[in-house]
Amino acid sequence: MNITELIRETTTGEIIKGFSKLDKEQKIELVSRYFDDPGRAAEIIKQYWHPDSEKQKLFEEFSENTISNFFFPYGIAPNFIINGNNYMVPMVIEESSVVAAASSSAKFWAERGGFHAKVISTTKTGQVHFTWNGSYRKLKEAFPELKQRLFERTADITHNMRRRGGGIIDIELVNKTHAIEDYYQLKATFNTVDSMGANFINSCLEEFAAELKNFILADERFEEKEVEIIMAILSNYSPECVVKTHVECDVSDLDDGRLNMTTDEFAWKFEKGVQIANIDQYRAVTHNKGIFNGIDAVALATGNDFRAIEASGHAFASRQGQYKGLTELSLENGRFHYSLTIPLSMGTVGGLTSLHPLAKLSLELLGEPSAREMMMIASSVGLANNFSAVRSLVTTGIQQGHMKMHLLNILNIFQASEEEKEHAVEYFKDKKVSFKKVSDFIAESRR
Ligand code: MEV
Repeated sequence: MNITELIRETTTGEIIKGFSKLDKEQKIELVSRYFDDPGRAAEIIKQYWHPDSEKQKLFEEFSENTISNFFFPYGIAPNFIINGNNYMVPMVIEESSVVAAASSSAKFWAERGGFHAKVISTTKTGQVHFTWNGSYRKLKEAFPELKQRLFERTADITHNMRRRGGGIIDIELVNKTHAIEDYYQLKATFNTVDSMGANFINSCLEEFAAELKNFILADERFEEKEVEIIMAILSNYSPECVVKTHVECDVSDLDDGRLNMTTDEFAWKFEKGVQIANIDQYRAVTHNKGIFNGIDAVALATGNDFRAIEASGHAFASRQGQYKGLTELSLENGRFHYSLTIPLSMGTVGGLTSLHPLAKLSLELLGEPSAREMMMIASSVGLANNFSAVRSLVTTGIQQGHMKMHLLNILNIFQASEEEKEHAVEYFKDKKVSFKKVSDFIAESRR
């Protein structure tokens, strides 16, 4: 195929037709034309291919139009004691300090009884959204029959899930005509056991939609035959798939030798930090972002859908009508009791969990957890990261630790040699790191 022929000039710029049909080399050739130095661009793109073409192919099959791989660091946070079990937790994240913060918090709490986690519920939801101009009363009366038909129609799809202890829990008819004219939902709840279950739920919902249409068309009780299916899709909001995790110790036991203030003063400031996240949206979002630093990193490392988890978590944070921090602190009777309650729809079978070689390895490292165990691990890491962040914020400030971690990134910007890095790390051991200071240090040492 002649690549140039694919590019069409339009009034709004260039449009490429049929990009997906090009082979990988052709795609790279075309993309490289958009750089000042096409040869260099193509070289960088190819540098990150897996040397084993079979392994590379596996990655290309995950997503469309793949031309290379985008590396993220795969790190380990050891010493996570969760309900008495010791985990080494894999984390995939590009931001410096996050793995260090999780590790430091894990070690801190390992010496104080570890994390205590409990899955509250694991129910997921899906909806068929439809419009219909018929009698709600008649549909409501006939709904038990329709529901039976919906269960029967999906019996093949749910067979394996039912064998594993899951399946469709319930289906309701929801009248939404007060909000949008003629609008109804079939709202179904599911137990997807150890899988995240998106495909399973969506397959069931599409069958429900087809059966709903048939049912109304064939049933003489309904004069209005025209059902318009708007969409059939799972909901990523999972307020009934929730885990609660906490850490606790005596307030007097909060000092690990680095607090530089009394434990009472620390607990007081920490409490204020948590309260502020409860009443101020600007702070709440950042507070929760710190939680998702840990959760997303574990989700990525284990092949879970971090976008779904984040979307649900933020909606859950607004469930009382105002966006709030997801953690709670109690200081009763001299005990520091800090908890996180969060919806986490995670899977440990199916999808990327078994396809991505490193996701698979992560699950092996975690001891092949069930989805429930996975929820407890991820929420513990989220709480650990948040505890570390708030602890730094109310004591030394975040920049001290963060910039130390960031030092290597700054040094890499200056293409520092291993020797220069060693000297810089030694030099900045007891000094504040800033971009300017590192730049001066490098300039001075190269003079
Ligand atoms: C940085 O990635 C996360 C923090 O901003 C979280 C927080 O402020 O709680 C440190």
